[in-house]
Amino acid sequence: MAALQTLAFISVIAGFSCSLTSECSYYNLLDYLNLTSSNVALETMRPVKNWTRSTFVQVDLFLLGILESNEKSQTFTNEIRVHMSWTNEFLTWNPSEFCGIEKLSIMTSMLWFPDVIIVEDVSDDGSMRMSPLVTVYSNGSVKADFQQRLTFACRLNLFAFPFDLQTCYISFSSLNSDVDSITFGTISDERFLTQVSDTVMLTRGQWELKHIDIYSTNQTIENKSYVSFRVLMLRKPMLYVIDFIIPLFYFLIMDLASFFISEAKVEKLSFKVTILLSISVLLLLLADILPSTEKDMPIISIYCMVIFTMVAVSVLETMLVMFLMDFEGFSCFYKKAENCENAKTDDQLEPMEDSAETLKKGEGKPKRSDLPSDCDLLKLILDEVKAVQDKTGRQDEVNGKQESYRRLAAIIDRVFFVLYLIASTIFVVLGYLKWIPQMI
Ligand SMILES: *[C@@H]1O[C@H](CO)[C@@H](O)[C@H](O)[C@H]1NC(C)=O
Ligand SMILES: *[C@@H]1O[C@H](CO)[C@@H](O)[C@H](O)[C@H]1NC(C)=O
Ligand SMILES: *[C@@H]1O[C@H](CO)[C@@H](O)[C@H](O)[C@H]1NC(C)=O
Ligand SMILES: *[C@@H]1O[C@H](CO)[C@@H](O)[C@H](O)[C@H]1NC(C)=O
Ligand SMILES: *[C@@H]1O[C@H](CO)[C@@H](O)[C@H](O)[C@H]1NC(C)=O
Repeated sequence: MAALQTLAFISVIAGFSCSLTSECSYYNLLDYLNLTSSNVALETMRPVKNWTRSTFVQVDLFLLGILESNEKSQTFTNEIRVHMSWTNEFLTWNPSEFCGIEKLSIMTSMLWFPDVIIVEDVSDDGSMRMSPLVTVYSNGSVKADFQQRLTFACRLNLFAFPFDLQTCYISFSSLNSDVDSITFGTISDERFLTQVSDTVMLTRGQWELKHIDIYSTNQTIENKSYVSFRVLMLRKPMLYVIDFIIPLFYFLIMDLASFFISEAKVEKLSFKVTILLSISVLLLLLADILPSTEKDMPIISIYCMVIFTMVAVSVLETMLVMFLMDFEGFSCFYKKAENCENAKTDDQLEPMEDSAETLKKGEGKPKRSDLPSDCDLLKLILDEVKAVQDKTGRQDEVNGKQESYRRLAAIIDRVFFVLYLIASTIFVVLGYLKWIPQMI
């Protein structure tokens, strides 16, 4: 009886286990792959059957967002997603034996994982988000993804800023394994990478993704294989055009226009100095953006510097003109006072006048007795006329001197204006020719 019961129990167990194996679950497969308990060999050892064969790790890079660029520290911060794929030679099965299961998701910690690093990575926090699962395919291929907010070094070429196209490299390599153990390659072609990145891109900031190129594969640095992607990003320049270039251009125009404010007005000088101050505020803003250690001086710095210099020179020129005017005014005043002093003494000492007067007196003397009142009257008139003549003569002399200074100032002003206009025009044309081709 007991034997019968045991037999029945065994048969039930057998039936159950039979039904378990015939069930289309993942457990059989896991069991078959020896993954049900922890398998240290699979976790730590590079999964090749012949150790001389290197593992070919394929990497795909997609850009999910261009978050920011830091021109001063020469870094970019991008959101990236990386697809990796390699072959685990121990994890192969025939799908037809396992209800057609072709792929299996298992914990990342259960399998060997290549130690991939990004060479240009300068992120200060571990922001890599690794999927806890990897997918294993029946042919042994393993796929793993991770996403990362990556801050990476990129030598920014700011020559054409803000119309610049930046070329950055993101390279994947192994920290530990040399080219004999791990070689790097790519899964997809660059057209696919660019296309997918373009469609899944979440945020672009002020940048536009132009292209992702596969820059180099099968290369080695210090016996370590690496794959390098070249990312081309184009800056959207509108903000800087509105913030810097157009205002600076307007300042230049305003400074040119200020030549039509009549010279020797204090308002003219203060107007120009205000323009100079406004430009220096923009320069400060620019200095916040651009790095000081730049080999190729950005055109925008030269643009700002030249406009600043031109306005500064024009302020100096206005000062010179005003000085000439003031000098004339001062000298005129001085001369006038001197002349007045002289005039008092001259009236008594001037020989010609005296002789004329004596001549008149001599002429008038014989007639005086005859027509004393008429003569007095005549003499008075003559004196008046002489005085007026004298005065006008002196003033003409002073006015002539004033006029010459004024003319000099006017000539300087006019010549400078013409030179300034020519220089500005040449500058704007040159800037246009130099800058526009950079806009692509
Ligand atoms: C699982 O382990 C057994 C015994 O250790 C071995 O015979 C078998 O080949 C292993 N299976 C796989 C898929 O490696
Ligand atoms: C391992 O690979 C090397 C070259 O790839 C070959 O010469 C060698 O015979 C292989 N060993 C075995 C055991 O297959
Ligand atoms: C294995 O299969 C997957 C999915 O079918 C495929 O993408 C991959 O290229 C295959 N790998 C190899 C080495 O054949
Ligand atoms: C790159 O590596 C692959 C796989 O190892 C190899 O087949 C190919 O010949 C290599 N190409 C070059 C240019 O070395
Ligand atoms: C690269 O590998 C070769 C041969 O394996 C070795 O002679 C050489 O010293 C290695 N170079 C470096 C930089 O490790």
